[in-house]
Amino acid sequence: MQIAHFSDVHALSLEGARPWQFLSKRLAGYINLQLNRRDKHPVRLFEAIVEDLNRRPPDEVIVTGDLVNLSLEPEFALARSILDKIALGPHHVTVVPGNHDVYTLDALAKRSFWRAFRPYAEGDRAHEDAEFPVVRERGEVAIVGISTALPSPVPLADGWVGRRQLAALEVALGRLAGKFRILALHHPPYTNRHSILRGLRDRGALQAVLARVGCELVLHGHEHRSLRRELPGPDGPIPVVGVGSGTYEDPRRERRASYNVYTVENKRLVSVETRIHDPATNRFI
Ligand SMILES: [Fe+2]
Ligand SMILES: [Fe+2]
Repeated sequence: MQIAHFSDVHALSLEGARPWQFLSKRLAGYINLQLNRRDKHPVRLFEAIVEDLNRRPPDEVIVTGDLVNLSLEPEFALARSILDKIALGPHHVTVVPGNHDVYTLDALAKRSFWRAFRPYAEGDRAHEDAEFPVVRERGEVAIVGISTALPSPVPLADGWVGRRQLAALEVALGRLAGKFRILALHHPPYTNRHSILRGLRDRGALQAVLARVGCELVLHGHEHRSLRRELPGPDGPIPVVGVGSGTYEDPRRERRASYNVYTVENKRLVSVETRIHDPATNRFI
């Protein structure tokens, strides 16, 4: 089974945005974006990922958040329209939110992420007010997606799983033991040098859940870098893979836009392929 994983495409569209939407955090985020990001995450790279996925389709796709920048409606509409071009369809494409998808209290209150991506974010037991964690069982694989996204004041970009979700996650992972369980979340579940401002606050509690009930693979984004770690599990170390931004344009190969494809055979991770953007052809190779 092949599972593709991309993240942090940061689709930008300011079409129809009104000035008052940029007040407060958005104002700071907007200025920062104008200075740093405007040409850094071109939408054509997001489209190139979709073309690559359609050329050589995996069985499943996982997207670990930050699909947009400022949680504006036109951005969600743009990101949704590009996701909808993935031929596999939402049943086989699982999306969890990043901090930029729940960037403001307004976006949280309006449940903008959920409304924009519902077919991609609901689990097998979908219902009207479905919340994370979501579980999708697909053959030998079970995908468990959690939300770590919360609005937080500038300059924070931190995340939080929360006690309710942690308890539900532990139950879900316990029930799914025997499958190849993939946990998908936006923030890295371990301490790094960005943890104070950009880290997952309750990563210790999440690590304790994983140590008790286990999981076969953890996937995250947020750092815009390709990262490999391990966390302790009940039967040995659990591989943790952070994928780089899917759309970052940078001359340095190690920072350039990329996405991963994992191959799982007989409930074991047998390979990780990283596909990197080739600026000359706008293709992933
Ligand atoms: Fe990001
Ligand atoms: Fe992020």
